[in-house]
Formats: sequence, structure tokens, C-alpha cells
Amino acid sequence: MNKLIFATNNRHKVDEVRSVLQNSFQILSLEEAGILIDIEEPHDTLQANASEKSRTIHQLTGKNCFSEDTGLEVDALQGEPGVKSARYAAGENEFADNTEKLLFKLKNINNRKARFRTVISMILDDQEYLFEGICTGQIAHEKSGTKGFGYDPVFIPDGSQVSFAEMSLEEKNRFSHRKKAMQQLIDFLNEKYGKN
Ligand code: IMP
Repeated sequence: MNKLIFATNNRHKVDEVRSVLQNSFQILSLEEAGILIDIEEPHDTLQANASEKSRTIHQLTGKNCFSEDTGLEVDALQGEPGVKSARYAAGENEFADNTEKLLFKLKNINNRKARFRTVISMILDDQEYLFEGICTGQIAHEKSGTKGFGYDPVFIPDGSQVSFAEMSLEEKNRFSHRKKAMQQLIDFLNEKYGKN
């Protein structure tokens, strides 16, 4: 089976991606590929960070790989935290601290509109391909649910009454930005290699 290295150390993302990319490609996380590095995200766009990660892994291994960068863009905060979503609050407990900071900044603000945006950079046979997925929704007034990761407990996608953290992986995939970007990648691979 063809192998694709997914340039991430986030096991939630690996689970999500594996749940949508079946059959034709075997996904290896960085750890599973024996690459024990943490790649920086120094740029001010999701696309540049995604490219940085996939190019770094491609230079190291020469193998086919992809990476993704995701940001939560909140209307009332002029698109913040956006590309800085991972390090929004500089606390030790990344997911909980970021979410608390977001809720605090939106206190007394009625406009709760937000969107998750994922950009994937894939390097296949030495060529880069980009894919994007967007999920629009609302930031809740308080956290609910214990599943998922990151901002999931406060994000309610359009078309749902509950947060991502209250959904199973399969339910989250019905709405998710990452799933949408992955679907484009899958369609591309199916087109290129034929569906099996
Ligand atoms: P990165 O793509 O790993 O840089 O993620 C940016 C930030 O957004 C991290 O704090 C993640 O926890 C958060 N994040 C990324 N994807 C999701 C998601 O699907 N749900 C909730 N939070 C996410």
C-alpha cells in the first residue's frame, strides 16, 4: 500500500484523518515514521505554515507527505486567533487556556460568528498541492462536551445544536473543516491513481 507521512504529532488529527482516508494510502504520523521532531509554525498564514511543515519532512525523508495548519477565525475579533490559534494564551495547558482566553475576549459580545479553516499542503512526487476546508459556526457562551480537542468544546458548527466536543468523530466529520480539506485531497488522489 502507498504510504503518506502526515507531518503532525497531534494524535487527534491523525485519528480524524485516518477516519476519512481509507483504502488507497496508509497514513504514518511523524512518530510512526521515526521522525522525532517538532516543526515550528513561524509564518503569518496557514498556507505558509502548512508548506513549511510538508517541505521540512520532504527534505528530511524524500518521501510523499502532507501537513495541515488550522486556525479558528472569529468575526468579532477581526479573525483572531487565526494563525495563532495554537499559542493564543501562552499558558501551560494549551487547549484549556486558549479556550478560556477566547471566552473572556468574547464576554458581552453578541456576534459569536466564527469559522475553522484548514489548509493542507501535500508533496507528492516532488510537487506541492494545496487544499482548503472551511467550517462556519458560532462560539458558545460556555464549554460543553469532553470529546475532541482544542476549541471543540466552544465551537457549534452551523446546522448543529451541539458543540464539536459533544460529537463522535463520525458526527464531527459531517461538518468539519479538516474533513472537507481531506475530502479534496482524497478526490485528487482518486483522480490521479483511480479509486479502489
Ligand atoms: P494547529 O493546526 O495544530 O496549529 O492548531 C491550531 C490550534 O487550533 C490548536 O490550538 C488546536 O487545538 C486548534 N484546532 C485545530 N483544529 C481544531 C479542531 O478541529 N477543533 C478544535 N480546535 C482545533
